[in-house]
Amino acid sequence: MAAKPLDGNGLALLLSFAPEPPKADPRPELVALGARLFADGRLASDGRTSCAACHDPTRSFTDGRRTATPTARLNTPTLLGLDGATHVTHDGRYRRIRDQYIDPLVAADEMGSTPASLCRTVTAHYGQEYRLIFGVPPDCEKFPKIPERVAPAWPAGFQEAVLATARDPLWARRVTREGLAGVAGYSPGFGWMKALARFPEPRAFVQNVGEAMEAYIISLRAAPSAFDAFLGRVKKTPEAPVERAWGDGFDREEWEGYELFVGKARCVQCHFGPRFTGDSFFNLGRSVNTLNDLRLGRALGLLQEESLGSSRATSTPKIPLMRLRGMTGAVRVTGLRGIAATAPYLWDGSLATLDDVMAHYDEGRFAIDVGVPSGATSRLELTPTERRALIRFLESL
Ligand code: HEC
Ligand code: HEC
Repeated sequence: MAAKPLDGNGLALLLSFAPEPPKADPRPELVALGARLFADGRLASDGRTSCAACHDPTRSFTDGRRTATPTARLNTPTLLGLDGATHVTHDGRYRRIRDQYIDPLVAADEMGSTPASLCRTVTAHYGQEYRLIFGVPPDCEKFPKIPERVAPAWPAGFQEAVLATARDPLWARRVTREGLAGVAGYSPGFGWMKALARFPEPRAFVQNVGEAMEAYIISLRAAPSAFDAFLGRVKKTPEAPVERAWGDGFDREEWEGYELFVGKARCVQCHFGPRFTGDSFFNLGRSVNTLNDLRLGRALGLLQEESLGSSRATSTPKIPLMRLRGMTGAVRVTGLRGIAATAPYLWDGSLATLDDVMAHYDEGRFAIDVGVPSGATSRLELTPTERRALIRFLESL
């Protein structure tokens, strides 16, 4: 049986997934420096744990573990295809990689370093490269002495204000003083950047290194896939029936998967465009928030962004409660390119295979834990054949 022919809209939708030329075009020397720093274990206090220890280039920049560390309880995301991303991290508390990298760098259970120690490593081993790109490095011994573990506190009064707003049945169950105090420290990078704000030279240094890391990371793209090759053939002869463009790794079954993806299964609602994500936030009902595991998802990201991320932090959160509620347990929509290689899945690594992911979506009971509808809420009613076709499609990306 021939595939249903594509009309103009169908063709436009299909081609909207085609990879785009790079958005940013960082200088090659910046990318090269970032690449070397990324792979250098000397940046960590144990002299071994580089960024690549978790974001392993041979594993599509993931680690294959359920969670990166026992304490962080977060799955390591791939770094492929972040060019053009509007937010990073699962709760989107950072907008830019150059600000985000300081988190794993200083986190005690990750690289356990300090900005001063970063300065010493970079000047000792990359002094010349740094000088050529950014000019004279600062005197590392003049970095402020900040206690080993900076515990970023919420601004004075902020916690009280959040709690006051939280006197709402839905929120009150999970937002408590202890919980808030606990999560204030989950993003140690913010604490450092706040502490360094009054020291222009060290701050500029940390940002320069961040710029190099970011340049390298946004240059990373998934290898051209079977789906890309198929799109390339469609582009050449858009008027021909799609089956003419089928070929190695993208055939009838993958095509049926694609049709489900943009049709019956509604995946395209959230996973669209060349990166298969618009970086928006949804609760898929897997973010169980309890007192002991206060993962407020995007709600926490918003609070952190506002209270600690900006220099204009005030003691009263300006985010309407409705917004916080709606974003409770929501996480960033993940891109899907190269997805077959980055198991396990979801922010907490709780789903081991793409089959498990499909089973979860098929149930369609998103956002059950917070009672806030966000995303789909009805069963997809996929047949086993349809489920398999969708997985084959995902594998072709
Ligand atoms: C111990 C493992 C580990 C190490 C080491 C590590 N990361 Fe990560 N990385 C993670 C985890 C886990 C996340 C998810 C964090 C979150 O959502 O809060 C992450 C998220 C990221 C993200 C955001 C990706 C996205 O799509 O949201 C970037 C960028 C990143 N890391 C870069 C780095 C850089 C640069 C370094 C080295 C300075 C580094 N990481 C070191 C585990 C690690
Ligand atoms: C309502 C929005 C929404 C819809 C609809 C949706 N997704 Fe997702 N998807 C997300 C979000 C949000 C995440 C990240 C969830 C997490 O990390 O816990 C995600 C994650 C995934 C992941 C795991 C990515 C990873 O690296 O861990 C896969 C695979 C996936 N989606 C495939 C699909 C497929 C296939 C469909 C259609 C059946 C679909 N999605 C429909 C929002 C959506």
